[in-house]
Amino acid sequence: MGRVTVPAEGDPLEGERVPVAAGGLREAVVAMLSSHWRDGGYTVPHSSVYPWQWLWDSCFHALLWAELGDEDRAVAELANLLAGQDELGFVPHMTYHGDPGAGAAFWGRTGSSSITQPPLYGHAVAELVRRGITVPEVVVDRAASGLGFLLAHRARTVDGLITVVHPWETGCDDSPRWDGWCPGGYEPARFRQIKGELLATVERAESGAPLANPAFAVASAGFNALVAWNALELATVVDDERLVAAATELAEALDRRWDPDRVTWTDDGPHASGRVRTADALLVGLVAPRPEAFTALADPRGLGGAYGPAGTDRREPTHDPDAYWRGPVWPQLTYLLQRAALAAGDPVAETLAEGLRAGATTSGLAEYWNPDTGAAGGAVPQSWAGLALLV
Ligand code: GLC
Repeated sequence: MGRVTVPAEGDPLEGERVPVAAGGLREAVVAMLSSHWRDGGYTVPHSSVYPWQWLWDSCFHALLWAELGDEDRAVAELANLLAGQDELGFVPHMTYHGDPGAGAAFWGRTGSSSITQPPLYGHAVAELVRRGITVPEVVVDRAASGLGFLLAHRARTVDGLITVVHPWETGCDDSPRWDGWCPGGYEPARFRQIKGELLATVERAESGAPLANPAFAVASAGFNALVAWNALELATVVDDERLVAAATELAEALDRRWDPDRVTWTDDGPHASGRVRTADALLVGLVAPRPEAFTALADPRGLGGAYGPAGTDRREPTHDPDAYWRGPVWPQLTYLLQRAALAAGDPVAETLAEGLRAGATTSGLAEYWNPDTGAAGGAVPQSWAGLALLV
């Protein structure tokens, strides 16, 4: 397929730093989010590196606006995100507000991307409701339909796990879990090109909704955990037994992916992928918690770090504590892992919360940071680093 540009990924960007004074985390987050708010009714992850609306980022932004007391923005963020949904329920992972042609040459369609991302809107809707915010029925219905698309229309593995059609769908773009797709070893520029090519084999519904990809039929443990957890979260708001049943089934299938020797959950699918120990795999703790998995998050030989869990276990040969998706701490993953530990009553919840706050502060609200030093990586400031306020 013809390719002109590749959507921005976490390239380092200079300038626009929000100084975080000791004890001033909240003020810094308010300043950052206010400058990242756009009139269309959404928040950009970063003003120049990520100038559009991203799916899971927006769900985190909605939580932040709720925390900051701006109900209107919290609701608008979700409403705008879900407005791009098609009739099958598919929600695109990027929306090019105000410049619909921006990604057209790459995606082969205008207005939005043609793949999805983890459906965090289930959690976001539930959390807003728990905070006493009125979420319009249309937003709740669309969130249910988004989860319904993944649960009912997405291709599954023989063991019943949902496949993604592209690495970007997991949100973990350059994870070593996908290195099998980069012959000769991972190299960022080459992998970027391969990710472009992987779009050509996506099988789609008439609406364009992505259903399967034989060239990347990966049932990521982390992605499936987020589908199941978001369905359960949404089910606290809507009366839908089928949602609970589907999520429970998914959680049981995930539980069978536990690898006691490697102390992680592994991906499913026909390709030999997904055995690398990464932090996102432990998101299964949201729906099928295991004490060993929580312990692993703080083990200094593996994932544990003073500024949060490393994205990739230090014992993996691919571990690089400063490189995009190869080992730094990700604030959104740390927030979710902290929620899992909290729900399971595991004391690592406090360790994760402290790490997230320390990392967000030391890095100046970076997109990701070094697990041992808190040194900033990627775009700075990045909206989702504000999640440190929520733990
Ligand atoms: C990067 C991340 C992705 C995120 C996006 C915007 O592409 O890998 O998870 O949604 O940036 O922050």
